[in-house]
Amino acid sequence: MRVLVTGGAGYIGSHTCVELINANFEVIVIDNLYNSSKVALDRVEKITGKKIEFYQIDLLCESDLEELFKKRKIESVIHFAGYKSVSESVENPLMYYTNNLSGTLVLLKVMNKFNVKKLVFSSSATVYTPAMGALDEEADLKATNPYGQTKLIIEQILRDLYISDNTWNISILRYFNPIGAHKSGEIGEDPDGIPNNLLPYITQVAVGKLEELKIYGNDYPTKDGTGVRDFIHVVDVARGHIKAIEYIDSSSGVSIFNLGTGRGYSVMELVSVFEEETKAKINYRVVDRRPGDTAICYSNPSKAEVELNWRAMKSIEEMCEDAWRWQLKNPNGYKVRKSEIWES
Ligand code: WQD
Repeated sequence: MRVLVTGGAGYIGSHTCVELINANFEVIVIDNLYNSSKVALDRVEKITGKKIEFYQIDLLCESDLEELFKKRKIESVIHFAGYKSVSESVENPLMYYTNNLSGTLVLLKVMNKFNVKKLVFSSSATVYTPAMGALDEEADLKATNPYGQTKLIIEQILRDLYISDNTWNISILRYFNPIGAHKSGEIGEDPDGIPNNLLPYITQVAVGKLEELKIYGNDYPTKDGTGVRDFIHVVDVARGHIKAIEYIDSSSGVSIFNLGTGRGYSVMELVSVFEEETKAKINYRVVDRRPGDTAICYSNPSKAEVELNWRAMKSIEEMCEDAWRWQLKNPNGYKVRKSEIWES
């Protein structure tokens, strides 16, 4: 089956391309490379030994996308392309609504025109109302930032689309906290500038790029006062997409699945596991809470286990080991030094 992967040069997109190729899918990638690097796709080719068909296309350019659908028969789509920084979305909501919503609307319009109606959509646990217990797919929804709002709005668009035309087969995957990297160390998380997220910040402290980790609050109602999250290996998340693509091939309607481990780890626990696994020392300082953070966020992943026959298999130790290997092999991520400037 030929699958179009939008945003396939990104962190989760590139790991999903590896798993798709390993599962003998034919992959076409489009990406505007705004917050990703073509080097990631070169690395996917190195890992899989297969050539990647790539087009640098921005989803906001409908004519470019139509050209591709005219030229290549696409059977299903995995839609990752979108901006994903919570803090950036608060600073620049219009950029997020334009890119994430308009990009998705153009994609759906072109898919509809060419009668391509199988879609897996990359959503996020950020759509859930913060809660102290395990979150299942029926939990209350409430976005607390523009990024999360774009995910919620797109989920509603997809439901309305199905109601208007029940020949669509759609699966919405809500990720908890993807971390780690492919075990080869060839692909991984390559944040632009100072990392927002916890583990890439930790690995940059460990490798000496950053001075110390700031822990945002230790006065939460949790075991050690620091935030608790459902960290899940990015390869497990990628493998969830293979199951979802197969699922929508033999089902119709809009299905929603949590991709999480069902287990929460605190910030301090992750730091301790990382130090234990890598023997690296992480200097840290507890500072004020980060605005918008919740105390606890972890999943009940049983629906995906039963209906997708998928479960997260990799341990928190493996997540730390694999993230560390990626950081050590790629101290500057995908940026390569050409003459005096770093380019990616
Ligand atoms: C995790 C914990 C922080 C950094 C975000 C998005 C979510 C998803 C994953 C896209 C929290 C603490 C963090 C640091 C810290 N992305 N922390 N010091 O906020 O749970 O989720 O990324 O879909 O949508 O919201 O992830 O890694 O930023 O934070 O103490 O330097 O680590 O307070 O408790 P988060 P995170």
